[in-house]
Amino acid sequence: MTLAIRGVVKRFGALTALDAVDLDIEQGELVCFLGPSGCGKTTLLRVIAGLETADAGAVLLDGADLIATPARLRNFGVVFQSYSLFPNRDAGENIAYGLECRRWAKDRIRARVAEMLQLIGLADHAGKLPSQLSGGQQQRVALARALAVDPALLLLDEPLSALDAKVREGLRFEIRALQQRLGITTIMVTHDQEEALTMADRIVVMRAGRIEQVGTAAELYDHPETRFVAEFVGRINVLPVAPDGGVCGRLMALPEGRLAGRRPALVGIRPEAVRVHAPEAAPAGALGAQLEQAIFLGNLTQLVLRVEGAPEGDPPLLAELHGLRPDGFAPGAPFAVELPPAALRVLEWR
Ligand SMILES: Nc1ncnc2c1ncn2[C@@H]1O[C@H](COP(=O)(O)OP(=O)(O)OP(=O)(O)O)[C@@H](O)[C@H]1O
Ligand SMILES: [Mg+2]
Repeated sequence: MTLAIRGVVKRFGALTALDAVDLDIEQGELVCFLGPSGCGKTTLLRVIAGLETADAGAVLLDGADLIATPARLRNFGVVFQSYSLFPNRDAGENIAYGLECRRWAKDRIRARVAEMLQLIGLADHAGKLPSQLSGGQQQRVALARALAVDPALLLLDEPLSALDAKVREGLRFEIRALQQRLGITTIMVTHDQEEALTMADRIVVMRAGRIEQVGTAAELYDHPETRFVAEFVGRINVLPVAPDGGVCGRLMALPEGRLAGRRPALVGIRPEAVRVHAPEAAPAGALGAQLEQAIFLGNLTQLVLRVEGAPEGDPPLLAELHGLRPDGFAPGAPFAVELPPAALRVLEWR
């Protein structure tokens, strides 16, 4: 099974919710749509599900256009954010729903429901109504209901967002393990970067109806192509590049190969890539800096540093160090920092 999205446009009146979206999804992948509220994640999922009709473009399943296939005939499993169970049906009856619609025989349904309840670890809860189940249990039943019909594609729209943090974390791993065991191709919408980073094979970063970048968690973190992606996935220092090529008031040797004659306007460096030294141990060429603030976060310490000679409007530099105790670091304390050129990412061009 492969899914191909080609030039999909969706408008709501004057608003373009999806603006020429192209995407390929391979068999067995878990792909996350990640982006801020209103960027079009749900709309794209609904177009794929057939619950929304695109104004232009195509959705192809194994090369065949789905345009004429209504949602109920696409054989996709869908789970929404919350409250998606039938309140007057117990867990088992909820799971049986899609099978009844497909006119399965009664004993076959019974066996399948038992199998699904086993799969989600709720074998003892078959007779409970949704109101008698916890939020996490309800979402597992919703998942089982979607999976019962053996769908070609599983579509999840923020399935964990209504749950509290602990339950959410547990379910992330459960859903991911289940998805891998069944080998079912899955698309999951989220605006939680941690959820996307922990669960997805690939992440699709969306912004204002467009795809900004697609990649694995590591690709997006190590090689963000835009400031938006760099700031949405993890933390990053965004530093202006002066017209003469200066960064933090100093000419930096940006790796020539990546520039290809173009001139960067903004570069980024992750806080853990900033090298921090005591002033007496400063290597040649290091920049002088003063501590503005030290923030102890347990496993790591953040240092907010003002680089000497940096242009007035530049933001302070954030450095993160593991296993460092900031005891005795006072504001104004001197440090030396290095910005390794190999760790600098161009985020915007002139
Ligand atoms: N039925 C509709 N009628 C009019 N506008 C809509 C409709 N559905 C969505 N929109 C608009 O389309 C844009 C994209 O909405 P969408 O629901 O896809 O965003 P989203 O990325 O899922 O956001 P969230 O994270 O808040 O769920 C929004 O500006 C929204 O207001
Ligand atoms: Mg949404």
